[in-house]
Amino acid sequence: LRLAWKLIAAITAGTILILAAYGFLSIRRETEIIEANTRDNLSAMGRALRPAMVKVWTTEGQERALEVVRFADEKLRRVRVRWVQLDAPAGSPHAPLVPVSRLQALARGDEVALAAPLGRDRYFTYVPVSATGLPPGALELTQSMERERRFVQASVWSIALTTAGVAAGSGLLILVLGTWLIGRPMHQLLIQARRIGVGDFSVRLQPRQRDEIGEVGREMDYMCERLSAAKEAITAETAARLEALEQVRHAERLATIGKLAAGVAHEINTPLTVISGRAGMIADGKLDAGQVPDSARIIATQAKRIAAIVRQMLDFARVRGNSKAVVDPAATVRAVLRLTAVEAQKRGVSVACEDDSERARVWADASQLQQVVANIVVNGLQAMPGDGSIEVSLRRARRRPPGAGPSAEGEYLGIAVVDHGLGIPQELLQHVFEPFFTTKEVGEGTGLGLSVAHGIVQEHGGWIEVVSEVGKGSCFTVWLPVHDPTADAATEIDAARAETGGTPGASPEG
Ligand SMILES: Nc1ncnc2c1ncn2[C@@H]1O[C@H](COP(=O)(O)OP(=O)(O)O)[C@@H](O)[C@H]1O
Ligand SMILES: [Mg+2]
Repeated sequence: LRLAWKLIAAITAGTILILAAYGFLSIRRETEIIEANTRDNLSAMGRALRPAMVKVWTTEGQERALEVVRFADEKLRRVRVRWVQLDAPAGSPHAPLVPVSRLQALARGDEVALAAPLGRDRYFTYVPVSATGLPPGALELTQSMERERRFVQASVWSIALTTAGVAAGSGLLILVLGTWLIGRPMHQLLIQARRIGVGDFSVRLQPRQRDEIGEVGREMDYMCERLSAAKEAITAETAARLEALEQVRHAERLATIGKLAAGVAHEINTPLTVISGRAGMIADGKLDAGQVPDSARIIATQAKRIAAIVRQMLDFARVRGNSKAVVDPAATVRAVLRLTAVEAQKRGVSVACEDDSERARVWADASQLQQVVANIVVNGLQAMPGDGSIEVSLRRARRRPPGAGPSAEGEYLGIAVVDHGLGIPQELLQHVFEPFFTTKEVGEGTGLGLSVAHGIVQEHGGWIEVVSEVGKGSCFTVWLPVHDPTADAATEIDAARAETGGTPGASPEG
């Protein structure tokens, strides 16, 4: 509670300063009053004694007069009285205790009062005596100031103790009040601010204080309420947006399947013909006993082939959440090429695949990645009016995402699909990733393929590059960050879990 300590330091220092100044002034005044009283007393005594002494001196002589002075000296308890002569040599019984140089005023008939002129604890008053027949002299009245000094000392102590007591008391009071009124609520505000900082809006302070701190607390509560409402709205909105996005992607997948359906049907047709032929032969009893098991085995093999094709299609079409895992991109490409093989064959296009990926892996959702590659390959096929070839290649390279600084350079895996088709005019190139941009007939294209692909690739930390020339063909390259298994052990564990759960399309056998 640094604030309380600062307050304590400031207020204690202030208190001490004020009380010390007050103490100093009142002690000075006390001393002055004491001195004035002493001076008046001594002077009054001297003046009272003077006429009696003068009278005795002139009528009965010096000896009697000095006796009167001695008598007064004996009777006055705290005051010493002496007769002094200004011209007495030093050491004589009538020499003044104060140096004669300081008693010049006496010669002019003035009284002289001195406080402890010899560094001793005494107060001197000289009352001048001048009369005919008397040598120039004075009555020296001395009073010990010991009692007064002790009195002033006691005052100093009591002021010092009062000051210390007030400082300690006010310090303690500030500490308690500061902790209670400022420290504790401030600490709560601090904890609340930290909570809000990490996005936890669940706790309300509900301060009972009616001061500024309480107000801040209530404001914070209100802020929490608004923030949590905003967070909920954002969460709901994000969920809705993600759902819409997934619907678009699904629709796009179904559209791709539609484009491939004829090929798939064709691929299923061949084994079906074999199956029905063999089954017919068995049913008609055309085969002898030894040939039946062979035919049954052929039927089983062909049925398995059909099942595999159907499974591939279903895997591709299935509605899926986003489940990333370590994916072998080469396997994904092979799965896509199997799906599109018949369509390519039908169009008389040969598809070649070259893998220079050096077994690089990516952290991806396998079916989403498959969707991206399938889209680009199907676009390539659609761009080839006659026969030709499509080359798919994988390679690993150090790249920098477009628009990023040099520090963003890293290991990327590129999946390039090169076709020798129509190409894309320069002015359309910037539009191909826009949703619903298509140059194809209704039924042929939705315009969603590249837009969906762009979204997916971006979600994976990658990007798509396009190079195209009208009449020569196009090259679409998907760049994805290479997965570094040493970078994150937890990722590996996730990956292992995901792989045992099965990642369709990620392995060549599907
Ligand atoms: N390989 C390609 N060759 C020529 N044009 C292409 C190629 N890939 C994409 N395009 C152009 O980009 C447009 C958008 O592609 P896409 O988003 O996949 O939608 P769709 O294929 O349904 O039209 C296509 O209509 C086409 O004009
Ligand atoms: Mg397309």
